[in-house]
Amino acid sequence: MDFTGKVALITGGSNGIGRAAALGFARRGARVVVADHDAVEGAATVDTIQQHGGEAQFVAADVTRSADVQAYVQATLDAYGAIDCFFNNAGIEGLVVPTAEYDEAVFDAVIAVNLKGVFLGLRHVLPVMLRQGRGAVVNTASTAGLVGSPGLSAYVASKHGVLGLTRTAAGEVGAAGVRVNAVCPGPTDTRMIRSLEEQSSPGDQVGASARYRASIPLGRYATVEEVADVVLFLCSDLASSVTAAHYVVDGGRTGTTAASRSFGKA
Ligand SMILES: NC(=O)c1ccc[n+]([C@@H]2O[C@H](COP(=O)([O-])OP(=O)(O)OC[C@H]3O[C@@H](n4cnc5c(N)ncnc54)[C@H](O)[C@@H]3O)[C@@H](O)[C@H]2O)c1
Repeated sequence: MDFTGKVALITGGSNGIGRAAALGFARRGARVVVADHDAVEGAATVDTIQQHGGEAQFVAADVTRSADVQAYVQATLDAYGAIDCFFNNAGIEGLVVPTAEYDEAVFDAVIAVNLKGVFLGLRHVLPVMLRQGRGAVVNTASTAGLVGSPGLSAYVASKHGVLGLTRTAAGEVGAAGVRVNAVCPGPTDTRMIRSLEEQSSPGDQVGASARYRASIPLGRYATVEEVADVVLFLCSDLASSVTAAHYVVDGGRTGTTAASRSFGKA
């Protein structure tokens, strides 16, 4: 995977999966723009890239605000003149609470970041890619975009929506040479999974982590680099015929049921 001469724009690139993707793109030759509302960690991502001889810029942006999204797109064009790869990735987990008790304001906030933020990214990046006649987008969905997950109604709804947006946009822009795919991580070793562990078992994060891991055939969480590698693949020419697709990176958790796993062990 060679991104020499390419420009990669990454939302949520200050931390976690987005940062790993930013570093991965830069290591393979891309000039990188990180858009995030966490300026401190965004500067750290950019510093790391620059220390390794790469080119990168940080743009402070709240992905829920149209003006901020237009500004990060314009800043990328002003800096580097194109957008070849767009990792539309910023997200929040919200609460782990049954739907019957879920806080309405938190529901709105999760949908605003995870679904509207992804829509706004597509809304303002796709016109650039259509003008260029090329480009690849990867939206971050989740295995929670494929199946229900009790306690995570807003998150699950938002991630199912991301897959719908992905397939719809892909159908609209394919003829112009633009590809749109999604990545569906399962439990991945970031701040977000630690928050979910703590919320699902307050005071027993270790136990929650052990239960999650026991549900994964590979027996462990994905690393951020393992998710980023799939994102880079989908943005690369190796995936030149892949669009409207989603790639699951979850150690086998979603493709196997608890019942089938116990049968295998019997
Ligand atoms: N970690 C997991 O287990 C997991 C599993 C499936 C999907 N995901 C998805 O992966 C993506 C990245 O999550 P992560 O695990 O790296 O978590 P993270 O919290 O480490 O990173 C999320 C990033 O998004 C940024 N962000 C949040 N709200 C924003 C906003 N309104 N505007 C701009 N930036 C904002 C944060 O500042 C942060 O840098 C998310 O979409 C998440 O839903 C994560």
